[in-house]
Amino acid sequence: MNFSEKLLAIKKSHLYRSRKVSESAQDTQIIINGKSLINFCSNDYLSLANHTLVKESLKQGVDKFGVGSGASHLVSGHSRAHHDLEEALADYTQQERALLFSTGYSANLGVFSALSDELDWVLQDKLNHASLIDANQLIGLPLQRYLHNNIESLNKKISKQSGQGMIVTDNIFSMDGDQANIDDLQKISNFSNAVLMQDDAHGFGVFEPNIPKNSIYMATLGKAAGTMGAFVAGNADFIEFLIQKSRPYIYTTAISPAICTATLKSLDLIKQGEQKAKLLANIDFFRNFSEAIGLPISKSSSAIQPLIIGNSEKSLKISQQLFEQGFYVGAIRPPTVPKGTERLRITLNANHSQSQIEQLLACIKNAL
Ligand SMILES: Cc1ncc(COP(=O)(O)O)c(C=O)c1O
Repeated sequence: MNFSEKLLAIKKSHLYRSRKVSESAQDTQIIINGKSLINFCSNDYLSLANHTLVKESLKQGVDKFGVGSGASHLVSGHSRAHHDLEEALADYTQQERALLFSTGYSANLGVFSALSDELDWVLQDKLNHASLIDANQLIGLPLQRYLHNNIESLNKKISKQSGQGMIVTDNIFSMDGDQANIDDLQKISNFSNAVLMQDDAHGFGVFEPNIPKNSIYMATLGKAAGTMGAFVAGNADFIEFLIQKSRPYIYTTAISPAICTATLKSLDLIKQGEQKAKLLANIDFFRNFSEAIGLPISKSSSAIQPLIIGNSEKSLKISQQLFEQGFYVGAIRPPTVPKGTERLRITLNANHSQSQIEQLLACIKNAL
C-alpha cells in the first residue's frame, strides 16, 4: 500500500484535511498558533462548553465520582450521575426513558445494531449524517435514500418495500441547517407501519424537541449542551431492548460521570432559556444583515448557516483568507457534502456579539 501516493492524490484534489491545534477553551474567541480568532465553526451553539456553572459542575462531579467511569454501563460503570442524567433527559424530552451513549456516532450505530433482526428495510434522507449511513451499512441492509426533504420521493420508495421498515432523518441537517418535516414523516410512518427515527444532534437545546409517539429520538450532548456523549429516548420497552441488544452500547466504557454532572447543569441552563434567546437573536441578526448586503446564504433558521461556493479550491482559499483576517470558518468539501456544493459552514453561538457577526459578513462579502 503506497500511502504517500494516496495522500498526494488527496492533496491534488484539494480534499486534504488537517487539524488546527487550539490553545484555549472552546469559545467564541479561540487561540490557534498564538493567533486570536473569532470562532465561527464551533457546534457549541449555546456557548456552554466554557460556561462557569457547567465547569463548576464538572469539577464537583470529579470530586464526588473521580475521573473515569472505570467500566461499561452493564459492568460497573453506570453511576448515580449517569442515571440522574438519563432521568433528566427523559423528563426534558417527555419520553418514558432515555439511554446514554458515549458519542452520537455510537448512538446511531447502537440503534441500528439493536434493530438489525427486526428490520426488512430502511429509507434515509439523502443528506443524513455519515453516522446514520455507516449504521445502515453495519446491519447489511441496502442503503436506500430518498431525495432531501422530499415526501413524494419517500412515498415512491415506500411503495416498493415490504415487511417492517424504518424511516430515518436528521432533524436539523448538519451541513445545510435546514429542518425535516417531522409531522409529515410521522404521518407516512404511521401509514406504512414503519418506525420513524430522528437524529436531533443540531436541534437539541436550540429548538423544542418534536418527538411523535412510538418514534425513536437521538440527540448529542457535544454540541448545544457543550459537553459530550449522546442519548436515545423513547418507550421504556424500546430502551430496555437497546440495553439488551445494542452492541455499541454494551461493549464500550461509559463516559465520565463528571461529564454527566456537567451535562445536568447544561440541561438546567437550556431550560432557563437565556442562552437560547441570545442564539436565536444572533441567527435573526445574521440573516437580516447578510440579506441586506446581498450575501447568498442558504435558507436556514438554525445555528448552521451555509454559503455555497461550489468549488473545493475556492472554499479553502476563502476560509484561509478569513483565517488571516481573524475569523475561523470551516470549508466543507466532499465527501462530507456532494461535489459542486462545497461551502463555508458558518455556525453561530449564543455569545457572539452582533459586531463580530457584522465584521465576519463584511469580510466574506469582500472575499467573494
Ligand atoms: C447529525 C449528526 N449526528 C450524529 C453526529 C455524531 O455525534 P458525535 O459527535 O457525538 O459522535 C453528528 C456529529 O457531528 C451529527 O452532526
